[in-house]
Amino acid sequence: MRNLFSILIFASLAFIACNNAQQNKQQEQNSDTTKSESMETPSTKAFQQNIDAKQTNLYVLKNKNIEAAITNYGARVVSLLVPDKNGKKTDVVVGFDNVNDYTQGGDTYFGAIVGRYGNRIAKGKFKLDGKGYTLATNNGANHLHGGNKGFSREVWDAQQLNDTTLQLTYVSKDGEEGYPGNFTSKVIYTLTSNEGLKIDYEATTDKKTVVNLTNHSYFNLNGQGSGTILNHLMMINADKYTPVDSTLIPTGKLEPVKNTPFDFRSPTAIGARINDTSNIQLKYGKGYDHNFVLNKTNGGLSKAAEVLGDQSDILMNVYTDQPGIQFYTGNFMDGSHTIKGGKKDDHRTAFCLETQHYPDSPNHLQFPSTTLEPGKVYKTTTLYEFSVKK
Ligand code: GAL
Repeated sequence: MRNLFSILIFASLAFIACNNAQQNKQQEQNSDTTKSESMETPSTKAFQQNIDAKQTNLYVLKNKNIEAAITNYGARVVSLLVPDKNGKKTDVVVGFDNVNDYTQGGDTYFGAIVGRYGNRIAKGKFKLDGKGYTLATNNGANHLHGGNKGFSREVWDAQQLNDTTLQLTYVSKDGEEGYPGNFTSKVIYTLTSNEGLKIDYEATTDKKTVVNLTNHSYFNLNGQGSGTILNHLMMINADKYTPVDSTLIPTGKLEPVKNTPFDFRSPTAIGARINDTSNIQLKYGKGYDHNFVLNKTNGGLSKAAEVLGDQSDILMNVYTDQPGIQFYTGNFMDGSHTIKGGKKDDHRTAFCLETQHYPDSPNHLQFPSTTLEPGKVYKTTTLYEFSVKK
């Protein structure tokens, strides 16, 4: 009897211990998930450095429902918190936790303003009024995103105008990266009352030059670092795109998207056709890395794209006054960078929608012009607006 009693006690204790251990494990797992899911604006301190004898910092913009953190190192969007279907703040852009990682971030261009000419210029050469210019070639034989340093690795002057507005300016010297003219660029980031991040660009020059400024944010609407973007639903308002050669320079033609994997006129999973290796364009791009020719509804802002995060139900609408948009599916992402929260920048875990003029426009006179003359003001606006699918 006494033995049976001891056995019962022992068995109950063992059961309780085992249960507790299981509960603890569950709690640990829960807190792990909470940790990995909790998305916060990175610490400002981690962005305070002296780079090129200038002070870098992190500026936080807030309105009722969204919060953006922007550094003046490359005028980069570091984080962008928007509510998902459960109201959970979700960081929808890829970025680093600190400014040092941005300085060593290779050719990722996370969140940056790229310029003076975003995208590629063939062999880094173009002519203005018959005079030839040679730019830095930093992408094989071609010039990409402004050259070796571009605007994305410069420290911009920053002025936070109010809770929702940040103004950044950068003056690029005559001859910098090979471009003619002292060029003054101003970028204003504003959080709008409509859950949007608006980017206003303005530039002037003292010599005829070329310009194509854009923002290079990598989006994952399920949250940065949360896995593939191949199940996001993408709509791009474009009947045509600009096919490229094997070095991603446009051939000069505008091709219809109809009956090709480039038809995103109705919402389609990004991954539905991305591995169609019979398509030479997808082969050249290693996925999507192409400029779409936007259908325009008026002279002002019109809808360029609409994307849905398949898990978060976060919907992003992109509006722009630009003629094109580069859709890039993170084909060069390879997990070699540690991004915010200890995550990795794995292959195709983010996409870019870079509103822009067509690549290599200075060498294709039939494309809309990217020339800026002294006395003229380059002005353009893009708006990324967020909501939850109804
Ligand atoms: C994109 C470009 C890609 C790649 C990427 C950065 O804008 O189109 O080819 O260079 O930037 O890795």
